[in-house]
Amino acid sequence: MIKINNLYKSFGDFNVLNGVNLTVEENKILTIIGKSGTGKSVLLKSIIGLIEPDGGTIEIDGIDATGFDEEEFNKFIRPKMALVFQEGALWDSMTVAANIDLALQIQKHLGVVERKNRIKESLESVGLKDIENVYPGELSGGMLKRVAIARAIAMRPKYLLYDEPTTGLDPVLSNVINDLIKKINLEMGITSLIISHDIQGVEKISDYTAMLNNGKIILMCETKEMWNQDNQIFTDFIRGKII
Ligand SMILES: Nc1ncnc2c1ncn2[C@@H]1O[C@H](COP(=O)(O)OP(=O)(O)OP(=O)(O)O)[C@@H](O)[C@H]1O
Ligand SMILES: [Mg+2]
Repeated sequence: MIKINNLYKSFGDFNVLNGVNLTVEENKILTIIGKSGTGKSVLLKSIIGLIEPDGGTIEIDGIDATGFDEEEFNKFIRPKMALVFQEGALWDSMTVAANIDLALQIQKHLGVVERKNRIKESLESVGLKDIENVYPGELSGGMLKRVAIARAIAMRPKYLLYDEPTTGLDPVLSNVINDLIKKINLEMGITSLIISHDIQGVEKISDYTAMLNNGKIILMCETKEMWNQDNQIFTDFIRGKII
């Protein structure tokens, strides 16, 4: 379980996270929605240790990781987590296999053969075959997203964080990615935290939905109850009204 308590983060005078409380239950999919620039990516990056919060705690399986130095974080927390970045974050100068391998090399106990097998397996599980030697520049946007997801699942994480996995994709490809996220959650038992603007997708795959607004989680509900909420900011947002 990931338990975030009273998390604060500012950049200069700008308070981005202003006391975030959030629990991500095991084996579930939780989606965070919220306006652009509201701190969703900052929240994910804080969970995965790329941003240091100013206050509050982030407990991963009961361990508060916020005070950890890099070495402790890499030892206790990093192996449990992977992030699918908003921008995909693949190296253009490296093949697909080399991109995934670079991430796998962090897990020092894995030998060359095992890494190779993991690369093949993870690409297959996102529906991509025989693209190990292709360069990212030769792939479509949907394929790039799937490679980024393959790289994340190759790490065999317990928790998988996705930053806007369907943004920029057409509706058909968005469906493919959403179905893939659900499949990964169900078949591999990976707890997933997604940031998304794709309300239809959210509705289809996530167990819980939470909204970040003005630096706080203003509402969290079971996704199947999302249309029955009486929080005006939340209901206006999911109906696409300007807030
Ligand atoms: N490293 C940083 N240094 C300074 N400001 C930052 C940094 N990272 C994020 N910010 C600021 O924090 C705010 C929240 O950014 P964030 O990327 O989390 O928004 P978001 O909710 O993910 O938006 P979007 O939906 O557009 O991706 C923005 O105003 C951004 O400029
Ligand atoms: Mg973002």
